[in-house]
Amino acid sequence: MQLTADGKLKHFLTTEGIPPLLLEEILDRAEQFVSLPGKAQVKAPLLRGKTVMNLFFENSTRTRTTFELAAKRLSADLVNLDIRNSATSKGESLLDTIRNIEAMGCDMFVVRHSSSSAAHFIAKYCAPHISVINAGDGRHAHPTQAMLDMLTIRQHKPDFTPLKIAIVGDIKHSRVARSEIHALNTLCAGEIRVIAPITLMPNGIEDMGVKVYTNMEEGLKDLDVVIMLRLQHERMNTAQLPSVREYYARYGLTEERLKLAKPDAIVMHPGPVNRGVEIDSRVADGSQSVILQQVTNGVAVRMAVMSMAIASQASLAKEKGAS
Ligand code: CP
Repeated sequence: MQLTADGKLKHFLTTEGIPPLLLEEILDRAEQFVSLPGKAQVKAPLLRGKTVMNLFFENSTRTRTTFELAAKRLSADLVNLDIRNSATSKGESLLDTIRNIEAMGCDMFVVRHSSSSAAHFIAKYCAPHISVINAGDGRHAHPTQAMLDMLTIRQHKPDFTPLKIAIVGDIKHSRVARSEIHALNTLCAGEIRVIAPITLMPNGIEDMGVKVYTNMEEGLKDLDVVIMLRLQHERMNTAQLPSVREYYARYGLTEERLKLAKPDAIVMHPGPVNRGVEIDSRVADGSQSVILQQVTNGVAVRMAVMSMAIASQASLAKEKGAS
C-alpha cells in the first residue's frame, strides 16, 4: 500500500517492509537537507504549488513543528488543522473530515492519532492523488521518528553492521520502538536489544529479531547506541510499575550506568524527556547525548520523505497520462 507499482514511496505509514534501498534513499536525501540551527535556511521548490494538511489528533511538539518547518522549507502551503476547535468535537467522523479537506484541495495528509490504524485507514480511503504520512498512530508506528533516529546513528557510526543498539524503557506502548526495530533490521544492525521490566515488554517481542533483557546493567554492556524511551502513561490501562521512583532506581540511565556501554556510545531519546524518570539530566545534557541532534534531523528527514512522496505522485500522474 505504501509503494507505487514501480517501488516509489507513495505513503509512509510504517518502516515495516520498506526495502533497504528506499530506507537508504530517505537517509541520503535527508543528509542533503540537514541545516544546522543558526545557519541561513535555503528554501527548495520541491513542493511549490502543493498543499500539506497537518492533522494532529494527539498532542505533539517536535513532530508537528518539524513537519511544518519541512513543508515550508520545501515551499509548500501548510495548514495545521486545529483539531480541538474543529467539527470533530461536534461528532464529525474522521472520514467526513478527510472528504471535506480533500474538497478544499490537498496533496498530503500528515496524521497523528491515538488509534493504531488511523493513518492506514486514511490512506485506504483518501483520494488517489493524496499521500499520507504517519506522524505516530497509537502504539503501532512512528516511521519518520525511526528514520531521523537512523540518520542520527549513521552520522556518528556510519556502518550499522557491527553496532550493538539497545532500546530501553516502555517498549510495550512504544510506536517508536517498533518502527526503529523494523528499520534497524532492514539496515542490518549487528545486534538489537530491548531492555525493560517484564510488565513493559510486549509478548513475543523476540520474534522481531531482538535480544530481551530485563536487567539494565546486563543490557547496557558494550553498547554503541542507547535509545531511552519515556513511560507512556497515557497508553497504560492499569498501573504497570510499583512506582516511578523504583523504575528510575532500576532502569534510569545515570552517568554510572552509562559507563557500562562503550566509551563512545551515543545516548538518544525521541522526546519528550522526563528527567529523573527514565534519564538523569547529567546524561540527557551530557557529552554523549545526541538528543537535540535528533530534533534537528527531524526537519531534514521529513523534508526527504515529503519530497519523495510528492515525486511519486508526479510519476503516477505521468503514467496515467501516458496510458
Ligand atoms: N518524538 C515525538 O514524537 O515527539 P512529539 O510527541 O513532541 O511529536
